Amino acid sequence: MDKQVSLDALCTQKAGSATLATLFQQQPDRGEHCRVEAPHLQLDYSKQRVTDESLQALEQLAESADLPGKRARLFAGEVVNPTENRAAWHTALRVPAEKQTDSQCCVEEQLQRMSVLVEQIQSGVWRGFSGKRIRDVVNLGVGGSDLGPLMVTHALREHARLEARSLQVHFASTIDGSQLFDLLDHLNPETTLFIVSSKSFTTIDTLSNARTVRSWLRSFCDDDALILRCHFVGVSAAKQKMDDWGIPSENQLYFWEWVGGRFSLWSTIGLPIALALGMPVFRRLLAGAHAMDEHFRTAPLLQNLPVMLALLGIWNVNGLDIRAHAILPYDGRLKYFPSYLEQLEMESNGKSVSVEGEPLNHATCPVLWGEIGANAQHAFYQLLHQGTQSVASDFILAARRYENAEHYAHYDELMAQHTLNIANCLAQSRVLAFGNEAVEPSDNPFRHYPGNQPSSTLLLDRLEPESLGALVAAYEHKVFTQAVIWNINPFDQWGVELGKQVALQLQPMLEPGNAAGRERLDSSTRALATTINDLRVP
Ligand code: F6P
Repeated sequence: MDKQVSLDALCTQKAGSATLATLFQQQPDRGEHCRVEAPHLQLDYSKQRVTDESLQALEQLAESADLPGKRARLFAGEVVNPTENRAAWHTALRVPAEKQTDSQCCVEEQLQRMSVLVEQIQSGVWRGFSGKRIRDVVNLGVGGSDLGPLMVTHALREHARLEARSLQVHFASTIDGSQLFDLLDHLNPETTLFIVSSKSFTTIDTLSNARTVRSWLRSFCDDDALILRCHFVGVSAAKQKMDDWGIPSENQLYFWEWVGGRFSLWSTIGLPIALALGMPVFRRLLAGAHAMDEHFRTAPLLQNLPVMLALLGIWNVNGLDIRAHAILPYDGRLKYFPSYLEQLEMESNGKSVSVEGEPLNHATCPVLWGEIGANAQHAFYQLLHQGTQSVASDFILAARRYENAEHYAHYDELMAQHTLNIANCLAQSRVLAFGNEAVEPSDNPFRHYPGNQPSSTLLLDRLEPESLGALVAAYEHKVFTQAVIWNINPFDQWGVELGKQVALQLQPMLEPGNAAGRERLDSSTRALATTINDLRVP
């Protein structure tokens, strides 16, 4: 089957899908039937509007797009990012040391260096400029150099090992300096270490935050070399740029051009994770991701969890024309997971030209957003239930919670809350699927729930380092699989460059008293710049 023809066929099939209510009537054991198991994770896709027939067509689509061949090239570290002539070898970052090939052993070497650094900081061997031990660490990074470590650190904080608990790890990403403004107000310069995390070491957001903290530190200690030695660690693929900035070589950790920014949390970019939770926890995260890699590499396509996530997404976007996708973790610890996925999916697959540079005639990545599910019920679920948009959803849930907290005074109450949380998660996917029919039909138009909104439920046994690693890796491979079928390059992000360039052009025009060049701007930007500058005059 020709790939383009079948994707086109899918795109014209839109109305051909039966409702979820009908699908369940036709197949009463659908709930048991439509499941995929992978390491640490199960997928229930029974509430997706697919049939065995549509799944077979999707499988053919993946095969005719040469998913198996392209997946092999991904794992082999071949160039899969042609516009930047690079591999995207994030899977190599989680290969266990004993299985690493010669070209992968640089990974373990850097992890060992990271481990030494973590040990020095956690044990108090590393000292600040006045000889005091480090108590706070601030990660300065943005995008992939922020979102992954932030998400994981938050998700697994209950797993922090004893040796990591003496450290507070913070994150500052915003170019406006707001997070730093708050942090610097209460942090002690003598006991605070800053990680400058940037693959390129050119990102203005991160470098301007780094410049601000360097100047903050200089107001307490006038020895710049001492400050750089005691208060800065750099993590980057650009060694020379870290040198130029002044980070001493022994304070530098490296990763490589073949690690994409949004796929980098597994590299030394994970330093904040190791500091906040302990190196063994970081290793467990890698092990979980590796288990998912092996599953993705070897499982048959329709029993392959990341492939199924991808195919269901393709069906929703191209078959059913559903262009919005909600990520709904029913777990407060996964607070940052939706924003992590926003970058992973939309920066990867928000593309409209093919690998060959031709305009596409099919849709690609949907708009993806999310929130902790139970909170979102009180915010945007109204639109999911009764709005005019079709939205596909991923519910994410851990079956077990608080199981090691029997000693906790309010254990029974917390267990009851967990049960209530599960009930809410299941209730929402049920109502989204079947509407009023889930309980009783209603003639009241204001109380009418149409249902038929597709969703998947991703079930973890528990949220722990291995299962989180597997969950994230599953989404990474979903993104890759979709890109193969859409025939796009998921590993570049040219769309973010122009905005950076234009911001640099505008910056001098926004300096107080400098209107030069504004006449070349469009009238909206010019008027806004003028008004803002007038407002900024003291
Ligand atoms: O501007 C987008 C981007 O390049 C992302 O892809 C990346 O994760 C982020 O900026 C940060 O880049 P760096 O790690 O090079 O500072």
